Amino acid sequence: MRTPLRAIRSSSPSTREKSLGWATYGDFRDTQRWPGYRYTVEHSIHVSEAHWPHGVGRALLDELMTRAAAAGKRVMIAAIDTTNGRSIAFHHQLGFEEVGRLPRHSISF
Ligand SMILES: CC(C)(COP(=O)(O)OP(=O)(O)OC[C@H]1O[C@@H](n2cnc3c(N)ncnc32)[C@H](O)[C@@H]1OP(=O)(O)O)[C@@H](O)C(=O)NCCC(=O)NCCS
Repeated sequence: MRTPLRAIRSSSPSTREKSLGWATYGDFRDTQRWPGYRYTVEHSIHVSEAHWPHGVGRALLDELMTRAAAAGKRVMIAAIDTTNGRSIAFHHQLGFEEVGRLPRHSISF
């Protein structure tokens, strides 16, 4: 999905829109080289901390999953740092399940 899905709030027509968060997905792997992955995507989601936990993340991810399904995608993957318990709990609530861990696969600078 090229343009991230954004949650915005505008309290009145004269007020500037305020971004509450965004969500997006992209190919999980290079589908030109590995077409078998064409139905699989990896997503990212971020909600502004001031708006935790009031349903913004659920609204964004529900809509993102609906759009991905409409685009023919069948599997959505979240790669979550094991220290991010909030995101793990959030994804469990939305029906995701843990399928594996990748120890020492990335470097923090
Ligand atoms: C993870 C994140 C997207 C959750 O967004 P949110 O708007 O706070 O989540 P919601 O209020 O929509 O919560 C949805 C469900 O997750 C659950 N949930 C959310 N935070 C939780 C927490 N800390 N512990 C347990 N459950 C939690 C809620 O209880 C809710 O369940 P319900 O709808 O059945 O009541 C948000 O905290 C965030 O942006 N974190 C920083 C960025 C990040 O970690 N992104 C994910 C990287 S993979």
